[in-house]
Amino acid sequence: MKPKVLVTHKLLPEAVSYLERHVDFELGTKEAFLDKATLIEKVKDKEGILSLLTASIDKDVMDAARNVKIIANCAVGYDNIDIEYARKKGIMVTNTPGVLTETTADLAWALILAVARKIPQADAFVRAKKYEGWELDLFLGKEISGKCLGIIGMGRIGKAMAQRAQGFQMKVIYTDPKELSKEDQIKYNATCVPLAELLRTADIVTIHTTLNPQTHHLISGENIRTMKKETILVNVSRGPVVDEAALAEALAERHIWAAGLDVYEREPEIEEKLLSLDNVVLLPHIGSATYETRLKMAMMAAKNLVQGLSGEKPDNLVS
Ligand code: DGY
Repeated sequence: MKPKVLVTHKLLPEAVSYLERHVDFELGTKEAFLDKATLIEKVKDKEGILSLLTASIDKDVMDAARNVKIIANCAVGYDNIDIEYARKKGIMVTNTPGVLTETTADLAWALILAVARKIPQADAFVRAKKYEGWELDLFLGKEISGKCLGIIGMGRIGKAMAQRAQGFQMKVIYTDPKELSKEDQIKYNATCVPLAELLRTADIVTIHTTLNPQTHHLISGENIRTMKKETILVNVSRGPVVDEAALAEALAERHIWAAGLDVYEREPEIEEKLLSLDNVVLLPHIGSATYETRLKMAMMAAKNLVQGLSGEKPDNLVS
């Protein structure tokens, strides 16, 4: 008999076919996200969970999931899972590292350029048939080339950002609990500085750290106010790293120049004030959203799940 598995939200067809060959799976939901009570009900008879980051797998869910051996998260981040509790219960947790690095860095770079060059506003202007001819001061943006990029979190995606910055002749500074090796400092042409210095000096601050108790509200209202008035802030990591209400306030008061956000504190909710501001570009958490990458993520999560359920050590074991 195939092991019973819950897939919390819809997957791509290729991953579904793979799962069909190896497990007996139930799809949590196709449309709306699973509420906690339904999730608890559905995990009761399962041996594995393939979760998307919209499913919060907390203590209550794990207590209800008496037979669950593995939670395979279809994301590199796994802050939606109470990892300590999973460890305590001996439940394996896996993620999908590596496959989304370049895609996410591309999107962060697209956000930087979209914000700096006011691309969404200019596009809306043309569509509204307002374009009446070339003007010297039409949609004046900010120069990116030669500026200073401040990277918060120098993991895989942070490094991919540093590589892109070289093409724009930028100075790169970063902050991370772990300093780069001498070799990597040269490779990425990046200097490690304390967070306070990065915020004070970078022209563009881009966030690529994981979410954990230390990084929650790392970018607080107080910190935002230490940034230069000309700064662009970009976040493609996790929303709660930034105090979203404080950021909206600072953008409204023009304490910083602009922001580009792909993630939010209480997704899918967005701080109301942000929606009316013209100095922020807002995306719906699409950092890794190319077909190629999302397929790799889904296949990786499915494979991790099947490995864990068949007694093998999953390739991407987090805990
Ligand atoms: C992740 O993998 O953690 C992203 O947020 C979604 O690709």
